[in-house]
Amino acid sequence: MNTFKADIEEIRRRAREKMDQGAVTATYQADRQKVIDVLNEVLATELVCVLRYKGHYFMAQGIHSQAVAAEFLEHAKEEEAHADLVAKRITELNGKPNFNPNGLHTRSHAEYSDADQSLEEMIREDLVAERVAISTYSEIVRWLGNEDPTTRRMIEGILATEEEHADDLAKLLVRIGAKPDGH
Ligand SMILES: [Fe+2]
Ligand SMILES: [Fe+2]
Repeated sequence: MNTFKADIEEIRRRAREKMDQGAVTATYQADRQKVIDVLNEVLATELVCVLRYKGHYFMAQGIHSQAVAAEFLEHAKEEEAHADLVAKRITELNGKPNFNPNGLHTRSHAEYSDADQSLEEMIREDLVAERVAISTYSEIVRWLGNEDPTTRRMIEGILATEEEHADDLAKLLVRIGAKPDGH
């Protein structure tokens, strides 16, 4: 029996052994608990983004509000889809997605402001949150490397949407007559 075949059989044996643990196999390279913890922070980030975009959607007022509100609503839905993807991946890793509203803001990478805001201030706040998400998610992709390709691919997909969101928001600022970067 060659080594390759022996290895495959050993892998199969371990897979059968761990079958009750679902998608997690003995060859899983990453520190599973750490990945679950990091994903729970991503989940919190996405949930805070859903809430912030929803709040902005309902509070958007003024001459440009219709187009901007439509964008806020679309982003809210996409952030919710991200939250679902992340929660599902956490369960695949045999973890528990943390939906506890207690401490949600602390777990999140993104901020949530309670201040009364103009349309422009809302867009700027969202843009900052998107940029934070882009930088932390890029960091997570690098950290996962080849240790957990499934989770990495998921985060890469989410990251691509966050980049689109940031781009949408920068264009909205131009559209409402604000300077994209400035005050
Ligand atoms: Fe997102
Ligand atoms: Fe986003």
